[in-house]
Amino acid sequence: MDKILLTGGLGYIGSHVAVELCEKGYDIVIIDDLSNSEDFVLDRIEEITGKKIDFEKGDIRDAAFLDQVFKKYPIDGVIHFAAKKAVGESVNKPLLYYDINVGGLVCLLKAIEKTSIKKLVFSSSCTVYGTPESLPVTENSPFRETPSPYGKTKQMCENILTDVASVCAYDIVSLRYFNPVGAHSSAKIGELPKGTPNNLVPFITQTAAGLRNRLSVFGGDYDTIDGTAIRDYIHVVDLAKAHVQALATSLGKYEALNIGTGNGFSVLEVVNTFIEETGQEIQYSIVDRRAGDVEKIYGDTTLANEKIKWTAQLGLKEMVVDAWRWEKKLKDASET
Ligand code: NAD
Ligand code: WQD
Repeated sequence: MDKILLTGGLGYIGSHVAVELCEKGYDIVIIDDLSNSEDFVLDRIEEITGKKIDFEKGDIRDAAFLDQVFKKYPIDGVIHFAAKKAVGESVNKPLLYYDINVGGLVCLLKAIEKTSIKKLVFSSSCTVYGTPESLPVTENSPFRETPSPYGKTKQMCENILTDVASVCAYDIVSLRYFNPVGAHSSAKIGELPKGTPNNLVPFITQTAAGLRNRLSVFGGDYDTIDGTAIRDYIHVVDLAKAHVQALATSLGKYEALNIGTGNGFSVLEVVNTFIEETGQEIQYSIVDRRAGDVEKIYGDTTLANEKIKWTAQLGLKEMVVDAWRWEKKLKDASET
């Protein structure tokens, strides 16, 4: 496969995947409506890779736009990142989430039907498991009730893809990301949260940078080592490499793979690792649990290890150090 289309390729995960693909010799085309990203990210991808990147600005729900992109470029594979991802916002704006995440996927699939692509990789999430019955979750763990419309859109998308895979001519892989954190080691690309971050690591780095006064640790009474909730954090560069492997490996018609490290860390372990590794102080208070949070989740990644020969290489230390390097770069840029 030579030419890969990345929908939402200027976003946090897409931009890191763009870099890894270019470094492996793939040609890429990015489409993005810039609703949650900035156009300077394109320049940064070009700076890191030394390659000129094809970019088309547009919305995945625009059928004519998609047809025109597929006509213009000889695309062999598609990685579909473009979606809305804020869990809390999805509760207040469910239709927006169903429209972009589910409607957008259907629109993309209809456009793909007219092409001869060989593979589609879809950004799924560990949120499809809801509150798991047992840990670690495997790909056979059931989809359980997930409280947010966002989580439901990922379950619906996977169900749609399973049905489509039984009749379409190309292969489909859903990568179920756990908690992506960190940034490229060059600090040229990273996460760009708009407004107050919902996620833990950007909130920590913004607190250390003086943009937030204090971190609220949501819940100190969970049944875990220190009472705080446990997640499987994964470095975004490791996550990006899993996409390259998923594209390069022949799999069945439909495959879903957990992409995490397989290790669970508590909120306080993340905070303390950040303090130890960066020497920054973080003011924090333990407050009530956040509605909708699960107590603990981490994945069994054996299937990804076996099927796409991929294992996460980077640990929590690299995740927080790279996230901090990126935050400092953003801070320096905002001060000049
Ligand atoms: P992101 O918001 O940084 O990137 C998404 C990109 O898609 C943005 O650049 C945005 O401008 C673009 N986009 C959104 N709607 C669009 C539309 N209608 N048409 C064209 N472009 C559009 O998000 P991310 O963190 O990079 O996430 C990428 C994918 O991974 C999403 O599908 C998300 O649900 C999934 N995911 C993310 C996480 C996470 O914690 N970041 C975890 C699991 C799964
Ligand atoms: C991690 C832990 C919080 C912020 C979300 C989505 C999930 C997936 C990944 C897309 C939790 C705690 C957080 C803060 C805190 N995204 N926390 N103070 O909720 O595991 O997953 O992102 O698919 O679908 O739900 O990630 O980073 O928000 O939280 O104490 O200010 O940190 O309660 O225990 P989460 P997160």
